[in-house]
Amino acid sequence: MATPQFEEGTTLDRFLMDTMRDYPHATGQFVNLMQSISLAGKLIAARVNRAGLLGMLGAVGSTNVHGEYVQRLDLYANEAFKHALEHGGHTCMIVSEEEGGPVLVPSRYRSGEYVVTFDPLDGSSNIDCNITIGSIFCIFRRLTPEGEPAELRDACRAGDEIVASGYLIFGSGTLLVLATEAGVFGFTLDPTVGEFFLSHPNLKIPKGSTYSVNEGHARRWSSGVASYVEALKERSEPWKARYVGSLVADVHRTLLKGGIFLYPATTDAPQGKLRLLYEAFPLAYVIERAGGAATDGERRLLDRSAGDIHDRTPLFIGDADEVARATRENTAAS
Ligand code: AHG
Ligand code: MN
Ligand code: MN
Repeated sequence: MATPQFEEGTTLDRFLMDTMRDYPHATGQFVNLMQSISLAGKLIAARVNRAGLLGMLGAVGSTNVHGEYVQRLDLYANEAFKHALEHGGHTCMIVSEEEGGPVLVPSRYRSGEYVVTFDPLDGSSNIDCNITIGSIFCIFRRLTPEGEPAELRDACRAGDEIVASGYLIFGSGTLLVLATEAGVFGFTLDPTVGEFFLSHPNLKIPKGSTYSVNEGHARRWSSGVASYVEALKERSEPWKARYVGSLVADVHRTLLKGGIFLYPATTDAPQGKLRLLYEAFPLAYVIERAGGAATDGERRLLDRSAGDIHDRTPLFIGDADEVARATRENTAAS
């Protein structure tokens, strides 16, 4: 009887160790950091999958620094990320959508090389409806010396200083997407063994014909955005509309299927709704590494710098030609 072929996939750990060989000066802190993020992802996935059974649905009654009602899972995910990141000796400071200011790792732990900004649970309004949600993370090297307490300038950074970024998406399965200078790689969680396995090597954004925008805000867009969106419907092959309302799901579909996602500025929110440091920056880094583009409606998003950790921004992201066209029409009209 033939020996059964042992189909061992590439685990995230093995991928990270293999990649580390390309960096002879690597200290291993990045590998440990990604393993911590992977642990947070597994913990959140397990809680999301059973939220309805654990009394984890619904709001806690309080609001966060943005005045948004905080969901139980927002808080759980925030704690999962903080605890996973604080003790590994690789991170010096975190910035979270759910924290008013930057949070230093406790002094009992080593203050490491990296700053991590994250949206612990993206798409909170979809939690109770069992619709795809996710977590988004962005990694910077600190500016201040290792071993000392980090400072605000370590957190308010430029898009082009991103070292790596990615997201976890809790949908029909749990996927971890990681973008580094080497490219964009997707890892699917096998819950039966608790490991992420490489399932989407070298992701590149294809040509597509799907647009994703909340047309409920259309009356408050610029005339340029409004005419760009209307023209999509008039194309020889009319474009399809898809909008989940979870940024991470809408951008992940755009990465896999092509097309464009837009969260434009509106007359009542001229700065846009999405947060620069832990929503738009990390996703812009992913999409650029996959051959796409991202702007704030006027200029390349990663050319921006965060003045405040909770800065907001409009976001045009996806196929490079479409993003350029939408940006051109938006700026021509303003
Ligand atoms: P979060 O749940 O982290 O607050 O993010 C929600 C964001 C983003 O996920 C999504 O793209 C956007 O809010 C949806 O906004 P609208 O409901 O205005 O379309
Ligand atoms: Mn979000
Ligand atoms: Mn969130």
